[in-house]
Parts: sequence; C-alpha cells; structure tokens
Amino acid sequence: MNKFYVTTPIYYPSGRFHIGTAYTTVLADSMKKLHLLKGEDAYMLTGTDEHGQKIEEKAEEQGKTPKEYVDGMAAYAQELWKTMKIDYNDFLRTTEERHVKVVQKIFDRFMEQGDIYKGEYEGWYCVPCESYFTETQLVDGKCPDCGRDVRLMKEEAYFFNMKKYADRLLKYYEEHPDFIKPEYRKNEMINNFIKPGLEDLCVTRTTFDWGIKVLKDPKHVIYVWVDALTNYITALGYGSKDDSLFKKYWPADLQIVGKDIARFHLIYWPIFLMALDLPLPKTILVHNWVTMKDGKMSKSKGNVIYPEELIERYGLDSVRYFLLREMPVSQDAIFSPEGFVERYNFDLCNDLSNLLNRTVSMVNKYFKGEVPNYSGTPNEVDEELEEYCLKQISAFEEKIDNYEIANALQEIWVLISRTNKYIDETMPWILAKEEDKGKLKSVIYHLIENLRKIAILIKPFMNDTADNILRQIGVKDEKLKTWNSLKEYKNLKDIKVIEKGEPIFMRLNTEEEIEYIKNLMKK
Ligand code: MSP
Repeated sequence: MNKFYVTTPIYYPSGRFHIGTAYTTVLADSMKKLHLLKGEDAYMLTGTDEHGQKIEEKAEEQGKTPKEYVDGMAAYAQELWKTMKIDYNDFLRTTEERHVKVVQKIFDRFMEQGDIYKGEYEGWYCVPCESYFTETQLVDGKCPDCGRDVRLMKEEAYFFNMKKYADRLLKYYEEHPDFIKPEYRKNEMINNFIKPGLEDLCVTRTTFDWGIKVLKDPKHVIYVWVDALTNYITALGYGSKDDSLFKKYWPADLQIVGKDIARFHLIYWPIFLMALDLPLPKTILVHNWVTMKDGKMSKSKGNVIYPEELIERYGLDSVRYFLLREMPVSQDAIFSPEGFVERYNFDLCNDLSNLLNRTVSMVNKYFKGEVPNYSGTPNEVDEELEEYCLKQISAFEEKIDNYEIANALQEIWVLISRTNKYIDETMPWILAKEEDKGKLKSVIYHLIENLRKIAILIKPFMNDTADNILRQIGVKDEKLKTWNSLKEYKNLKDIKVIEKGEPIFMRLNTEEEIEYIKNLMKK
C-alpha cells in the first residue's frame, strides 16, 4: 500500500488563528483525505511551535507562565481543528519531552560533526518573526517580513555552517524538479539567498530562557527554527526508542508551508536533513497568503476574519471551499465579503445545490424516486457527456498532482456546469412526454452518475457536502463511493433517491450577508 505523509507547519500559538492561518491546515487535511480516498495509508501531522522569545513575552503580558500560556493555546488550536474537521493523526507540541530530547540529541550531533561552531552574533532581530536580519536586509529600517521594529542585538552564539552544504543543495534542487512547488519559488531561493552566498545560521540564543537548552552548554537556548523544523521527524519517533513510524512514513510526501516561511523550509530544513544523512521530503509546497482588499489581515486595521465565525453562519464546507478555491498559485488570495457571498451563491448554490435538487426532483417526478439503470444504449449526447466527464476527471488529477488546488477545484466546477447544461440541452420535461422513455431514462441515469462522481471528487475538500449528496441520490454501496469507481459509468441497481430533495446550500441575501461579514471583521 502506498503511504502518504503530509505535514503543516507547527503554529505559533501567539493569538487566535485567522482564516489565512487556517488555510495551510485545511489544505493539508484535504490532501490527506484525498490520499485516503485513493486507498493509501495517509498520515497527517500538525502541532504548535511553543518556544521562543515571542511566546515568553506573550505569556508575561497575560500574567501567565509560558507553560500555562502554551497549554491554553494548544487546547485552543485542537478545538479549532476539531471545528474544522481536520483529520490529523498527530499533534506535536514542541514542549513535549519526546521532541525536546531528540532536538538536544540532534544539536549535539551537529556539534560533534563540526556542522555547528561557536562564534559571536550581532544583528537586527525581529522578535515576532524570531529572525535576525543584516542591515541591508531591513526595509526602511524595519523587519523585511512583517514590517515591525527590529532591535540591534549582540550575543555569543553557535552557528550552523550552511555554506558547506550550499552546492549540494543547489544540485539537489536541479536533480529533483518536484522538490519545490511551484517552481518559481526555487528560483527565488537560488537568486535571493543561495547565489549571493549563503550565510551561516545563528542557531542559539542567550537573551531569553524559554526554549530547549543545549545539553553541553545550557546557557544557550536552541534557536526556535532548529527546534521547530525538526518536529517533522521527532513526531515520528526519529532518534527515539520506537522509530517505527519514522521508518514507515519518512521521507514526507508533502510538506505545506506559507510563503513567509519558504526560506526556512527550502534552505535550512533540507540542509539539516542532509547533515543528519536523511532523505529529503518529496515535495515542499509553498502557498501564498490570504489577504484582504486593504492588504494584510491585522487587528489594528480591523480587517481580521476568524474561521469559527464564518463557519457558524455559513457552514464549514463553504469556508473550506472558499479558501481552497480562491488561492492562486502565483498570487495572494483576497478575502472579501462580496467574494465570499458570490462564491456561495454562484458556485455552491446555483451550480452544485441546484444540480442536485433538479436531479432529485426529476427522479421523483418521472420514476417515483427509482434511479433508472444504465440503458446500455446511450445516445450521442450522453456519450459526449461521458467523455466530457472523464476528461474533466483527468484534468482534475493533472492539476492536483501538481498541487494546483484552486485549478483542480475549478475543473470539478466545469463538470458541474456542463452537467447543468446537459439538463437544458436534453430537456427531460419534453422527453417525459415521449411514449418510449428510453431517452429520459438515460438522461436521468447520467445525471445521477455525474452527481455521484462530483460527490467523490469534492469529498476530500468538502466531506459533509459529498456525503449529503450521496445520501440524497441514494448511493449507499461503499464500492460506488471509491476513487476507483470514478472512471466508469456504473451499474446503479436498486438505487432510490430521497423523497424530497434538501437544498445543500440556500441562496444568501447578498446585501445582508455582505453587511454581516463586514461587521464580523470590525468586531
Ligand atoms: N511556527 C512557524 C512555523 C514553523 S514550522 C517548522 C509559523 N507559524 S505561524 O503560526 O506563524 O504560521 C503558520 C502557517 O500559517 C504558516 O504556513 C504561515 O505561512 C501561514 N499563514 C499565516 N498567515 C497567513 C495568511 N494570511 N494566509 C495564508 N497563510 C498564512 O510560521
């Protein structure tokens, strides 16, 4: 059986997670569910990145110990993922002993191997990003990543010898075209960081305490990124007594990260793995950001939107759909109340929900709810629809294999539109008047079959909606719900639709709901 190991970054528990932050996790969850549906042994990891100065300061602000603070936040994160029906297998907290011990061992090994050496560091440090910058990297004297103030800091520190691995990394990029997706991110790494000369990375801090101590020099705390990145293997038991999961799942098949942390995952992470003599993940997928019309989401701008609140009003699947559908490969996605309501009304309500409703009501009207079986003699229009459907499934697979998620979803919606158009073309209400019901049977059969396929295709992304469709069209047999069953027009014996169709998405009042979402953002 094929295995599929997918990871999200571990989240900084520095505040509530907005819809942008939730994007990575929804995507990873969808990929896991897709591979499960394909019959693979899929395993998903997520967690929280609990060390570092930012967390220490955050806890202090709230009058808590760092441990109390992160305990509360890890519980919050788990609750949110439950609300979003994220099906992770493991949730790693970097404060757990299983992680801490192994990070210390890894650091020790790097020291022994000579990959890590002692020196002195001076630089501009951004506390929220946990990153040092050189003078030239600053933008108008501020952090180039988040735009906030930076502090000049100097400390005795250990360094990781990145230069030693630069050529190997470049060669790896070249020989593994699937390693970085989309490809333009690779060029960014090469041109912005590797070609100008990879600098050694400062991997310890002495200015704060909340972190994993270097075993042989405990006044040093291990840099939060060394601590964080290694979670992908410590969670599998790497370096521990029981490393069976590690043996089974490593290397990861897909590691998903946002563009802001691409550098850490595309340069430092592979180099750490090389230094540990471990294979590299098959693909690291870098996605863009969910932004607002007026730029980044931020509390000060009053434009933040949290997933729970949207879910409460519009249901989980519409939020998952919006996020996945709106994220282009090469630009940021924009969340706007107008855009959300439009996707809801057009894609979900007009296209998908209506297709289901029209079909279920016709099966009831013309055949007392019983789905006519394949006649075996489809006419030209039916044959064309079959071909079209199979072509769309292939188009979906091609896009998803390349991790172009929004484009893959679009291919499903093209199929939905085509199927709606098929109703208008074949005009079942006219066919119903014909003596010979052969043509009508074939049309209705094809509608149900396309809906069955559409349900399977959307299932990884919108599980509840898919199940709802399958229930309404009366598909109970598990064999008719598998990925393998997608490519064929199946024998639909003894299938009965429900007596009265239930709309899965009800049309929203555009103005009212736009206002509602705007108010959520102001709250
Ligand atoms: N702790 C680090 C990751 C360490 S992984 C070894 C971190 N955490 S984070 O909480 O700040 O971000 C978690 C994920 O959310 C990252 O992939 C980040 O890119 C993503 N996003 C944060 N804001 C986002 C948007 N507005 N839109 C999309 N993704 C966003 O980074």
